[in-house]
Amino acid sequence: MCGIVGYIGQNDTKEVLLNGLEKLEYRGYDSAGIAIENEQGVNLFKVKGRIAALREKVDHNVSSTMGIGHTRWATHGAPNVDNAHPHQSASGRFTIVHNGVIENYVEIRKEYLSDVTLKSDTDTEIVVQLIEKMHDELQDTAKAFRKAVSLLTGSYALAMIDAEDNETIYVAKNKSPLLVGIGEGFNVVASDAMATLRETDTYKEIRDKEIVIVRRDSVEIQLLDGTKVERETFKTEIDAADTEKGTYDHFMLKETDEQPFVIRKIIQHYQNEAEEIKMDPAIRNAMLDADRIYIVAAGTSYNAGLVGKQFIENLAKIPVEVHIASEFSYNMPLLSEKPLFIFLSQSGETADSRAVLVQVKELGHPALTITNVPGSTLSREADFTLPLYAGPEIAVASTKAYTAQMAVMLLLAVDTANGKEIKLDFNPLQELAIVANAMEVLTDQKETFETLAQNYLSESRNAFFIGRGVDYFVCVEGSLKLKEISYIQAEGFAGGELKHGTIALIEEGTPVIALATQSSVNHSIRGNVQEVNARGANTLLISMKGLEHDEDAFVIPAVNELLSPLVSVVPLQLLAYYAAVQRGADVDKPRNLAKSVTVE
Ligand code: F6R
Repeated sequence: MCGIVGYIGQNDTKEVLLNGLEKLEYRGYDSAGIAIENEQGVNLFKVKGRIAALREKVDHNVSSTMGIGHTRWATHGAPNVDNAHPHQSASGRFTIVHNGVIENYVEIRKEYLSDVTLKSDTDTEIVVQLIEKMHDELQDTAKAFRKAVSLLTGSYALAMIDAEDNETIYVAKNKSPLLVGIGEGFNVVASDAMATLRETDTYKEIRDKEIVIVRRDSVEIQLLDGTKVERETFKTEIDAADTEKGTYDHFMLKETDEQPFVIRKIIQHYQNEAEEIKMDPAIRNAMLDADRIYIVAAGTSYNAGLVGKQFIENLAKIPVEVHIASEFSYNMPLLSEKPLFIFLSQSGETADSRAVLVQVKELGHPALTITNVPGSTLSREADFTLPLYAGPEIAVASTKAYTAQMAVMLLLAVDTANGKEIKLDFNPLQELAIVANAMEVLTDQKETFETLAQNYLSESRNAFFIGRGVDYFVCVEGSLKLKEISYIQAEGFAGGELKHGTIALIEEGTPVIALATQSSVNHSIRGNVQEVNARGANTLLISMKGLEHDEDAFVIPAVNELLSPLVSVVPLQLLAYYAAVQRGADVDKPRNLAKSVTVE
């Protein structure tokens, strides 16, 4: 989704902004721009398309030590140069970048801006025009900014500069993420710390409905009424090296490869000296208090939630419902008496999930967020957080966050079972260590998956994934991976459901990827494979050691069957990756997609 970066200091702004925007590219965008200011005023450069094009467009002879930049993922108005940010007020004095959606922009336009000719179709331009109107009245930029911001409803992260003041960036935030980074003789603004890690590792969190006056040597946080707010700094744990591709062609491959290490890191973080699970007792109590758990998530995180339900119900014996975040508000289920909500989110910023969290908090129910970004909105606003420790995930297609989510939910389920004194016949930390080794065996066989992708998928228009039990959930995730990065139409089905309609789509050569990692359904999924084969399918059967048959295309190492999704997904991630590469797709930045979906 959209990204913001701002800089005010001693160095050349252009490089800081362009480098920062490049770091935000992974979030998905369709246009970009920067505004840089010096004594002569503000220079604006905008393009439709990539940052590389913006780099070419920027006049590198203009020197400046302050500016703001933006990557836009279109919501209001087509992706073109007019709608790209930064936007300027009618006189050109004020220049702004914005993430989020202004809900009352139509009303604002009617009430305050009926005499202004707009240059774009965006809700953002309304904000900067409104600031100019307020300035006409108040003759003070800070007051005009505060007044305008107080009239906005919806979500926003804003950074604004004034052509007549090259000492200040004005910042405001509501619901959309924004941080101010602190340096020596400079300060930065970023919607994601990743954009400014080269500059600083020290940040101040900005809370909703706060304004920040950012200067070269000071950062002043204020409430909308002008009251000053003191805020401690924090150090980000993101290692700048984690945001580089290194020797990999794509972040997705690097992140797929990192999964064994992530699982080992999770084991390390969630175990005490006695090598038992270490979990916040307050989280255990919240789990024990709940009569039903509601997992709310989107996309891949939702798919991880489906597996999490199996862990919690099987091990901790608490009923679990899994809900798609964007449906929850309209299709709210009848809630139990003592619900606990679990928000699963890699980014911790997904607007659909946050909307549910707001609703849940209004109803007074407890909420736990499981996220890769502690300090994210979903983490801050929930009662509890369990971090994933997966490190930054840059490829749009989620891989290591998915397996990390399942691993953390497993530990949560086991910790709850321990709290209920339910005797389990396995040690989850040891089982996860076995999982990590099995993942490594698979990531070491990349050439095999490259060949399988070539043989089964790269020329195909569509593909089906079938499985039973937890394999079905992994099939849904495998099909999502394939479709989002290779654009092959792919669907995951429960093996037994095929005969109720979908089998009509199987024709000569249709690729079907089948998973067989569950002994209880090994026989029946193989029956489904026979059925599709009889109709001409080109079937790639992936089974688990101990359940394999001679004709299987690939056998994954044996792990505890309940935990098999953490391992069986790896071949599907690699198949999707290679099929996308073979089809020439932009693997890390698939079309139409954004990494962090911060609009509902
Ligand atoms: C797909 C993918 C998305 C996300 C979804 C939720 O590979 O990454 O489906 O899972 O947009 O995002 P988070 O987990 O950040 O809430």
